[in-house]
Amino acid sequence: METQTTPYHASGRDSDSSGSLNAIVNEKHKLAAGSTTSSTSTRRRRSGLPDAQNSASPKRWKTFWEAFRYLQNLTPKQVDDFMASYVIYNLDWSNEKQMVDELGPDYQKKVGECLQAYYGVLNHLCALGDVEKMYIPPLMNKKATVLENQLLYEESIAEDIGLAPGDKVLDLGCGRGRVAAHMAQYSGVHITGLNIDPNQISQAQTFNENLGFTNNRFLVQDFNNLPLPFEDSSFDAFFEIQALSLCKDIAALFREIYRVLKPGAKFSLLDWVSLPAYDASNPEHAQLMRRVKPLIGAIGTPTPKLLEECLSAAGFSVLRSDIPSEGGLQAPLIDKVDHYFRFMRQVILGLVKAHVLPRHFKTLINRLCLDGEAFLKMDNMRLVTTTYRIIAQKPAQ
Ligand SMILES: C[S@@+](CC[C@H](N)C(=O)[O-])C[C@H]1O[C@@H](n2cnc3c(N)ncnc32)[C@H](O)[C@@H]1O
Repeated sequence: METQTTPYHASGRDSDSSGSLNAIVNEKHKLAAGSTTSSTSTRRRRSGLPDAQNSASPKRWKTFWEAFRYLQNLTPKQVDDFMASYVIYNLDWSNEKQMVDELGPDYQKKVGECLQAYYGVLNHLCALGDVEKMYIPPLMNKKATVLENQLLYEESIAEDIGLAPGDKVLDLGCGRGRVAAHMAQYSGVHITGLNIDPNQISQAQTFNENLGFTNNRFLVQDFNNLPLPFEDSSFDAFFEIQALSLCKDIAALFREIYRVLKPGAKFSLLDWVSLPAYDASNPEHAQLMRRVKPLIGAIGTPTPKLLEECLSAAGFSVLRSDIPSEGGLQAPLIDKVDHYFRFMRQVILGLVKAHVLPRHFKTLINRLCLDGEAFLKMDNMRLVTTTYRIIAQKPAQ
């Protein structure tokens, strides 16, 4: 992935581009409004919002510039592979024939390659906004920013699965290890994070070590390749955030998680599902789904019922199954993120036109910003959500 040849713009034009990106800076302030000064931070603590400055969260500006520079130096092959990887989001695990026709008999390997190519670039694109953790959270508090809602949700996981200092916790599809760092800081737990993408794993390791969370560890592992590399009853708890649609066999994965959890351990998932109002035979619904799956990067489209059945079949008791968002909708947060990236797209297109940024920024940002309004519409119609929550437990004996 990262041993490619010539970057598009090996020399870059840093001073030009950084000067011209002031507009993005201002827009970012709006997205993260209210969480930048210590007095504000004290006020927010009192009002029940988390302190985004003291939450093992990334320093936003450093994150932004690192992501920007990484994207600037992408090779043509990385960009081409990223664009080609979208083929998997037109497919669905439930239609194996289509998978084989499109990707060949070894389709699972091909999907793995596409996922690496996709996430190896996407994680940096997301880091240009307030979604470095690559998930739009449930709407936990209408007054909170996207990042604060992420923190609130993560803290609710810690309560739901009863995390205690020293617990060993498994995080599947762990992104850049930012959620792991927050969990370690909030609950004193030791996280093991798994991810198919070596680029995110090395960032996760460095980020956690720099913060002193040396008990957190991160492993490259495709969760479609089972078994997981752990002994039976290794972990005190499990959580995952928005990775399950990329899992070929959810039932087998849940059996495997059951195996590696200790008796009595709790399980938390937050994920993409289609809701009862979704009707695949309705042309409008089907068309919206075709647009939204590539936008959010989903292959499978499980239902809450399917997830609950797979958990029960694996041996778990389902304790809670619901949508945690206030009012049941994520839409206000989707709208904020969509607005920010559409604004950034305008700035980037201008800078590409002025030859300040390399042309591949246009390709990437156009792809990223496609179909945001379809996602918003599906959420408002309650056809799908990316924030369905299930809490389950392995029986004590
Ligand atoms: C939508 S993001 C969710 C964000 C993430 N939970 C976090 O903590 O930032 C999905 C994550 O799952 C990872 N992933 C995708 N397919 C995977 C696979 N087959 N095995 C392991 N990880 C995978 C991606 O690289 C990405 O980090």
